[in-house]
Formats: sequence, structure tokens, C-alpha cells
Amino acid sequence: MRDSFILTGILSILLSTGCTSFRSPYEPKQTGSLKGTFKGDFTIGTAINTDQIREKDATGGKLITDNFDAVTPENIMKAEVIHPEWDRYDFSLSDKLVAYAQKNNLKVNGHTLIWHSQLPSFVRRMKDADSVRQYFTNHIKTVASRYDGKLESWDVVNEALEEDGSMRRSIFLEKLGDNFVVEAFRLARQASPNTKLYYNDYNIEEPAKRAGAIRLIKKIQDAGVHIDGVGIQGHWNVNYIPLKHIEDAIIEFAVLGIDVAFTELDLSVLPNPRNTIGADVDQNAEYDAKLNPYTGGLPDSVQKKLTVGYESLFRLFMKHSDKIGRVTLWGVHDGQSWLNNWPVMGRTNYPLLFDRQLKPKPAFYKIIKIKENYSVNNQSHQKNARINQ
Ligand code: XIL
Repeated sequence: MRDSFILTGILSILLSTGCTSFRSPYEPKQTGSLKGTFKGDFTIGTAINTDQIREKDATGGKLITDNFDAVTPENIMKAEVIHPEWDRYDFSLSDKLVAYAQKNNLKVNGHTLIWHSQLPSFVRRMKDADSVRQYFTNHIKTVASRYDGKLESWDVVNEALEEDGSMRRSIFLEKLGDNFVVEAFRLARQASPNTKLYYNDYNIEEPAKRAGAIRLIKKIQDAGVHIDGVGIQGHWNVNYIPLKHIEDAIIEFAVLGIDVAFTELDLSVLPNPRNTIGADVDQNAEYDAKLNPYTGGLPDSVQKKLTVGYESLFRLFMKHSDKIGRVTLWGVHDGQSWLNNWPVMGRTNYPLLFDRQLKPKPAFYKIIKIKENYSVNNQSHQKNARINQ
């Protein structure tokens, strides 16, 4: 009796401190799932990390398969992991990811073949253009052909643009010239004709960078090279969600005849120390308690902002669901989000739809409601249209 009392006490302390191994069970199935809700509108995806690929957490695993149709590897298909040395590739985790996805009926969105960040050190040390070109060609051919048809899509090139829409000063631009993006798509198509190919970037909803993205996509198309879509990353802040720009971007990209995807959606609730927007991974700032105001929990007023932010975004996504193929969240739950460590290490952020205990947040219920209401409204529109005929 006394022992069980002590055990209960220990358990409740662990639960209240958010210890993940004693999570309360995830059970929102009755309230609707994300993928069930948006079936027929767009694919709903999430980024997953190594533990999730290794199926370390049964509750979290069920949450993923209940709610998402697709997964993006958060890090393990980046060059530093998959191609650690000049003549050595490591496919162990990416093969595991593909097997996990096949077993659970999830699509995989590959991320990413060519990116200036998270490059293996042997590439960062390269001085001559020939070596960079050889790396670039071998990398795309080897990685893309291994997964041809096994992945739904590839982010072939990630973040090749500066904020003003010009080409980003990167090792690829410097050594290969500004045709490298076209070349990357050409090689990816040859190696992987059965996987869709995307250009992916942040802030490409903003006018100047958007114009740059449109120029880049047209350049690929004008060269007769295949491109299927564009990924707007969607790392925004609850205090700045540029809905008008996002809508204009959806429309302008769709006019190019390609799919529009939201590939890395999350909404930070914390101040950005430099007041910049977007997701430049090279940005960082010193920790300061003033930059980390919600360690004890999220105040209602901020929770509301988050809910309204997700609500307005999903309303927009529904409005343009004919142009949008996929919406992917950058992580499953708040505890896992990269925004706890970027651009400042060790903060407590709340950017996703499930909290640290895997409980669906008000924003989750809200976006499910939007779709229910949307369907009801649409049915009554159609009915009225019929009556008026
Ligand atoms: C992030 C990951 O989430 C982090 O774990 C990693 O430390 C850095 O990269 N844009 C992208 C993603 O395209 O690959 C980045 O992912 C977030 C910004």
C-alpha cells in the first residue's frame, strides 16, 4: 500500500516535470486527425528526427501515423550525414527511414541534395572548382538514384537565394557559377525520374526574394529541365505572418505551372534577437533570460496568437488547396522543435501543433474546425448555386 503510494508520488512528479518517458497517452483520434481532416485537400507532413525514425517512442509514433501522410527527415539526408567522406556514403539512417515510411504508409520528402549548410568537412575545405564539381555530380547521382521512386519528392536545391533575390554567395555559386541550380535539377532528373523535384527556400513569399525565385524557376524551365514544385519553408513568428505576401506567392508560383508546398511550417512565439525574419541557420545570438520569457508555460494571450496564426494560415491554404500539394510542419511536438535552439540555444519555444506532452494544442483543434466549417459552407454554397440555376 505504502509502496504504491510512493510510486504514484514519483510518477506524478515525473509527469509534472514533463519527463517524456512517462507521457500521458496521446489520444485525440476521436477529435479528428490532421491527415483525415485534410484528405483530398493537401498532404500533411511532419519533419522527423533520428529517434522517431528508430521508433523509440510508441506514443509519439502513433501520433505520427495517426496524423501525418508524409515525413521529411529533419537532418539525416543532409550531405554531412549521408556523404561524410569523399568516397564514403552512409545510407544506414536514410534506408531505415524509407523502410519505416513504407511500413507505415507514409510518403517521404527528401531533404536535401544541394545546400550550403550542413556540408561534410571535406567539401568545406575544397579550394578548386573541379573538386566541387565532381562532388556535386557524384553526390546528386549517387543519392538521388538510390531512392528513385522510393521518395515522393526531393528538395533538390535548398536556399540558393539572398534576401534581395540575387544568388546567395555560397561555395556552389563561387565555384560552379550561377547555372548550378539548373545543373542540379538536370542531374537529379536523370538519376531519379520517378521522384518529384522541388526548389526550397525561406522568405520566398517576400516580394524581392519571390521575384528571384520566379527568375530561378523560369531559368530551369527555359533550359528545358524538369521541375515539379517550389517549397516555401514557412518559418514564421506569431508577430509576423505575411498573409498577403504568402497568398501572392502561392498564386504567382502556381502560374508557373508547378506545385506549391509549405515544407517547414512552424510559428515561433519568442523574440528574434536581431529582428530579422526567415530561417538563416547561420544566425545566432547569445542566451539572455529576456529572450526566453515562457519557461514556466505559455500565457493564454500568446497561446491565442498562436491559434489565430495557424487558423489564418490554414484558411489561406484551404482557399488555395487546388494549388497546394503539401503542408509539412517542422517537427512533431514543441519539445523537439529546432526553435528551442535557434537562433539562441536553450530556449523554451512553442511553435507546433502538439505540446511537450504530445497533447494537441488549441491550434490543432482550431484548424480541424476550420475544415469542418469550410466543408459545411462549401456544401451550402454548392446547394445555393444549384437552387439559383
Ligand atoms: C534545421 C534542423 O531542424 C536542425 O536540427 C539543424 O540543427 C539545423 O537545420 N531550413 C532548412 C532546414 O531547410 O534543413 C533547417 O533544419 C531549418 C531551416
